[in-house]
Amino acid sequence: MALKLIDKFLNGFVSADEISAISKEAADAYDLVKSGKGEGSDFLGWVTLPEDYDKDEFARIKVAAEKIKKNSDILVVIGIGGSYLGARAAIEFIKSPLYNNLKKDTPDIYFAGNNISTTALTELISICEGKDISVNVISKSGTTTEPAVAFRVFKKMLTDKYGAEGARERIFVTTDKCRGTLKQFSDEAGFETFVVPDNVGGRYSVLTAVGLLPIACAGIDIDAMMQGANDAMKEYSSSDLNKNDAVKYAALRNILERNGKVTEILVGYEPYMLMLNEWWKQLYGESEGKDNKGIFPASVVFSTDLHSLGQYIQEGQRNLFETVVNVKNPGAEFVIPNDEANVDGLNFISGKKLDYVNKTAMLATLIAHNDGGVPNILIELDDRSAYTFGYLVYFFELACAVSGYMLGVNPFNQPGVEAYKKNMFALLGKPGYEEMKKELDARIAKD
Ligand code: PA5
Repeated sequence: MALKLIDKFLNGFVSADEISAISKEAADAYDLVKSGKGEGSDFLGWVTLPEDYDKDEFARIKVAAEKIKKNSDILVVIGIGGSYLGARAAIEFIKSPLYNNLKKDTPDIYFAGNNISTTALTELISICEGKDISVNVISKSGTTTEPAVAFRVFKKMLTDKYGAEGARERIFVTTDKCRGTLKQFSDEAGFETFVVPDNVGGRYSVLTAVGLLPIACAGIDIDAMMQGANDAMKEYSSSDLNKNDAVKYAALRNILERNGKVTEILVGYEPYMLMLNEWWKQLYGESEGKDNKGIFPASVVFSTDLHSLGQYIQEGQRNLFETVVNVKNPGAEFVIPNDEANVDGLNFISGKKLDYVNKTAMLATLIAHNDGGVPNILIELDDRSAYTFGYLVYFFELACAVSGYMLGVNPFNQPGVEAYKKNMFALLGKPGYEEMKKELDARIAKD
């Protein structure tokens, strides 16, 4: 098992009686996921994906990645939300948050189309100058504003630089199988396309072409990643929370939520977990936050944030709990040097491994936060390999679906995302939104 759930830092916050009282409800929620009888069951493709993924497409992903690695200095990955976060989380977790600065034989990877920032776009355009570029645009709907604008820009950049024929060799499109406008356009333009399966929603799609193509371009072993997910799928095959840590995590979160702990903070002790945290926040936030329900997903990276949000967590409102992800093997070793002068008084840790100090900081913080009234769930990972990443993704996705059903929401829709979009389209003057524009303009004009 690449992942272990540890609940000893919940002592005094969650009782054995509470766990056994909720176990039937948790098992029922798990059965809804497995049987496809719950709400949103059209989007359960991720449940069996680690086994029944499209093997031909998987092989095409590897070929495309090899081509990109050979002919490109830079891969620009265009997408937002579920069409962006998983790939970035994987590359940072498995390779490094400084991936682009590492010595490597794979292209730099930049992410575009995940904001509407002029600065971000113009900076990336200038980074691309004089470099060989490929583009992977990822959008299930094909009509999301942020990636669509970025795709216009990079499509033109590639066509101007390489001509229509050359651009065709360098633009890869990941989208809906047949319905979306992007699919039709790509087929007409002759771009190679990959599929976001109909039955997999954006935030559950990292183990499809959405995540796998950029991840493979970074030189990450996607076979190992799928194997990790596959092993997790087999491991988490019981509805009994005593035999299934994903169900147990879902149950513990729901007990805590019912006890007033309505904010969950995902905690990492490594900078390479920052984007994993972002991916997790989207997964849980979009899946659970609806119908005036949900646990608010927040995140921190310690020890960095112990010097900022640490104060709040220790002594602020007592409505939160933490889920700490501990990576046992740091993958590198560094020993703290001795300093003759000992100005900082730290010679008592000279010769100790830096990771030992990091892990000690974690233990110290777990106890301090417990003492401050903050329950902690601990998730222990063997390492930061592709295999473990795949395993962890499956664990979090399954737990999220089970937890969502326990909360009484449909974990697979995101109706609330539309509200800002409608307003934005109206204010921007999209045809068909004229009446709405008048109303919004009047509200904005009010003193
Ligand atoms: O999880 C989701 O469904 C969303 O975050 C989408 O991934 C995001 O809105 C992007 O949508 P699309 O892939 O259609 O451009």
